[in-house]
Order: sequence, then C-alpha cells, then structure tokens
Amino acid sequence: MSFLQEIEKRRTFGIISHPDAGKTTLTEKLLLFGGAIQTAGAVKSNKIKKSATSDFMEIERQRGISVATSVMGFDYKGVKINILDTPGHKDFAEDTYRTLTAVDSVIVVIDVAKGVEEQTENLVRVCKMRKTPVIVFINKLDREGKDGIDLLDEVEQKLGLRVCPLSWPIGMGQRFKGVYNMYEQKLCLFQPHGKQTEEDTIVFEDLEDENLENIIGKAAAEELREESEMVSEVYPEFDAKLYQKGELSPVFFGSAINNFGVKEMLDCFVQIAPSPMPRFTEERPINPKEDKFTGFIFKIHANMDPKHRDRIAFVRVCSGEFKRNTNYLHVRKNKKIKFSNPTTFMAAKKEVVDVSYPGDIVGLYDSGNFKIGDTLTEGEVLHFKGIPSFSPEQFRIVRNADPLKSKQLYKGLDQLMDEGVAQMFIRSWDNTRIIGTVGALQFEVIQYRLEHEYGAKCSYEPLALNKACWISCEDEAQYEEFLKRRRRDIAKDKDGNIVFLAESAWVLKMAQESFPKVNFHFTSEYKE
Ligand code: G4P
Repeated sequence: MSFLQEIEKRRTFGIISHPDAGKTTLTEKLLLFGGAIQTAGAVKSNKIKKSATSDFMEIERQRGISVATSVMGFDYKGVKINILDTPGHKDFAEDTYRTLTAVDSVIVVIDVAKGVEEQTENLVRVCKMRKTPVIVFINKLDREGKDGIDLLDEVEQKLGLRVCPLSWPIGMGQRFKGVYNMYEQKLCLFQPHGKQTEEDTIVFEDLEDENLENIIGKAAAEELREESEMVSEVYPEFDAKLYQKGELSPVFFGSAINNFGVKEMLDCFVQIAPSPMPRFTEERPINPKEDKFTGFIFKIHANMDPKHRDRIAFVRVCSGEFKRNTNYLHVRKNKKIKFSNPTTFMAAKKEVVDVSYPGDIVGLYDSGNFKIGDTLTEGEVLHFKGIPSFSPEQFRIVRNADPLKSKQLYKGLDQLMDEGVAQMFIRSWDNTRIIGTVGALQFEVIQYRLEHEYGAKCSYEPLALNKACWISCEDEAQYEEFLKRRRRDIAKDKDGNIVFLAESAWVLKMAQESFPKVNFHFTSEYKE
C-alpha cells in the first residue's frame, strides 16, 4: 500500500461525553465491530469508577490500566480507525483537552434523558475552538428521555453546534421501536441486547408507503412521518464538506448498551470522517502528505511501576513516516534522539512498531526528555500550535516540607508539570510557587507522587484565587500601568509568560473594565 493510501485510510478520533452518558459502552461496541475485542466488558477496566472518586490511588491505578487503552485501533471496511481514549473524570479534563489536539474528529455522546451536561459543554467548546468535526450520538433511547426536537434545540443552543439529524427515533423507552436512518433511507427496528438480524433493517425510501403501518403500527407511523417532515423542513441537508470544516454536525440516535444504532453511525463515520488533517506550526502549515516526518507530544504518562522512573510520551504523527531506530530532532532541546521501542498501545496488547503513518499515535519510552507540546522532526525547526494550557480553577501555594530534599522537590515538580499534571506559576513579587489545577484530585496526586517517585515532601497552603489568565496588551503605557497597579497579582507561567491571578470573578471584571486595552486570555495560546 502506498504512503498516500496509508494516510487516506486512517481515521483518528476521540469519543467525548459527560461521565455516564455511555462513552465506554459505545467504545466497546465499536471495538466489537472492528474485531479488536471479542467479549463485552473488556474496556470496562479503563473507566475510573464513580466509587473511586475519593480514592486517588485507585484512580492512579486505573489510569495505569488506561495506558493500555490509550489508543484503540482496528480495521473496519478497509479503514484504519484509531480511537483515542479520553478520561471521563472531570478532574482530568485537561488531559482530555490535550488529547483533543491529536484527533481529526470527535463523537459526542449525549444521554437522552439528561441532555447536554456540563462536561459535554466544556469539551465541545474545545472542539469548536479547533474547528474539529463533531458527530453527535444520542444514547439510551431504550429509556424515557427528552423529546427529539427539544434535545436538538438544546444541542444547538448549549453547544453552539449546527445540527443535521441523519437518523430519527421512533418513540423511546417502552415505546421505542427503532430509528429511521435518513442517511440511507432504512428503517432499523429495535431488538434489545444487540439481537438485530438482517430482517430488522428494511429499506424504506418512501415513508408514505403503507407497509410502514404494518411494521410499526398506525400511531408510530403517523408520528414518524410527521416528525421526519418537520425535521427535513427545519434542519439543513447534510453536507459532508461542512461537517469536515466543523460547521455542521450529523446526529444519530441509538442505544449503545443494546448495540442499537451504533453500526449505522460507524458506517456513516467511515464514509464521512476526515482522514488526517493538516496541522499548524508557528512556522508553517504541515500537510500530512509531506514526505518528511513531523509530530508532537500531546500526552505523557508516568510509569505506574515505581521501580522504573521512565514515562511514556505519546506522539501524534502529523506528516511523513515515523520509523524505529531513526534519528529525529527534538526541537526544544535541539538534540537528536532515536527510539528503539516505539510502541502502539492497542486495546489489550502493545506492540513495537517499525513504521507509523500520519494519524497514528506512538508511545515513546522517555526518561524525562519530553514536555507536552514538544515537536519532533527530521531536522526542520518547527513548533506545533494548538496545544495550549487552559486556565486552571483551583489554586494552592506549594511549600517544601522537607528542607533537606529541596532539590528533589523542585525536580519532581518540574517533571510533573512537564507531564501536564497541573500548572505552576511563580508569583512575581515574592517568588511563591503556586500550583493551579482543574480538579482538586491533582493536589493529592502531586503530593503522593513527589513522595513516592522523588523522595520529596510538600505541603499546601490554601489560596483564594478564582482564575489565572494570560495577559497581552498592545498599548505599552497601559500595560506598564496594569503591571504596576496589579503588582501583587502578577505571576509567570512555566514559559515565562505573564499571568494575572484574579481573586474573584468580580476582580477580573473590574480589571477588564479598568484596563480596556489589556487582553485577558483563558488559554496560554493567544499569540498569532
Ligand atoms: P461513560 O463511559 O460515559 O461514563 O458511561 P458508561 O459507558 O460506563 O455508561 C454509564 C452507564 O450507562 C452504565 O451503567 C451503562 O451500562 C449505561 N448505559 C450505556 N448505554 C446505555 C443505553 O443505551 N441504555 C441504557 N439503559 N443504559 C446504558 P452503570 O449501571 O453505571 O454501569 P454497569 O453496571 O452497567 O457497568
């Protein structure tokens, strides 16, 4: 197979949802279709269970397991599918945001009864920022839930997605009869527990056909005709190009646990989802078809075995071929490195790979060389864009609790920050180290790992902060004035960028009003 064919046949995507909407179940059904797993339940171990939310050790252990399923790959209808796993736990949201930098499209799972939930909103916001194409899967139709049209309104309003249903449900809960697949004009009849047979899918080009009554009953047939007419009037026609630009989102209805509606979505997905897309560096755009290898690190996972300090850095191949035992330039360190054991982590098995192609994710054993966002190339100096840090929401001052181990503490903190566990800011007026995270759990994770991996101890002091945002300003005089007036709230991030630490939403608002020419950014990537 030629290099171009290898690229064309890849689909790298992520499944995102608010916890419990059915992401794990859907992933598992997709893997079953692809033959990547043989039995249901195989992916379950990857999920951070609700019962473990207060037990971060258990969460770390489960995250360890999740290395094995970081990328789940399988072939389906001649297409090579890479599903990137994203942690559902909200305290690890930043991990998920970063994983989204390595995908070419996403599937959003929404619970029909709960509708659009908070975490869905946060994740879709990141997709929209990046113009990532989104498919929506409305799950759990075997249960009572919201009305289809109301739900689509909610998706449009809360997620800001322009939608286009490609299937339409016939009833729900006890009355759920199946879906009408508008994309292929087929009626798919619901049988619980994935017991569908060929006869349950009936081609139905014209819903006026009298046979419809015979199959789903008079009332359901009338309802379907009425709703499908309304849907075709209200929603735009499907246009694959608009979807690929992230401007139109096809919607499917189904029930993941019953394996219903999943195959229809997958069949459509392999036809419409984009193959590896171009990526942008500060220097120039990168076309996947370029023959020289380029890639970036989007995730670093610590080794769960305390005897081995090494970590696994995940690289997304953006162009060219990534080959084993070949020297590549680590741009930030200006150093050539070669990798003898680049690994793919496929559901349940890991393998050393000799060649990987654009769209693929490769795990590299790393002894501390990499940071999130690092670029690898064949020699060209490039810096990939779009791997920002996000404004954290919880803050604590970190103090050294064992004066004899300060070297270990600072090394540990640096490495954990490189991994992206949290962000560290150094407050300018007193050099205090402040750790900012998305969730409270990371504080415990840091403390535990400093002690067990670096032999250092830290303690925390509470800090009443609401937001940290990055600052820029074209007007030098106003910038100087701002820095002077807010002297005590200024810090620097790991790259030396200026950050404003706002005590409350009100303080932030006041600062924005008093200094209209100062820009407050909620991700670190604001420079053009
Ligand atoms: P998540 O990864 O998004 O957090 O969700 P997950 O797939 O684990 O699903 C959350 C719960 O919803 C699970 O039940 C799962 O069985 C159930 N579920 C998934 N899809 C459907 C569906 O189509 N219909 C119905 N009725 N339920 C569905 P649980 O009780 O939390 O876990 P388990 O005991 O089933 O493992």
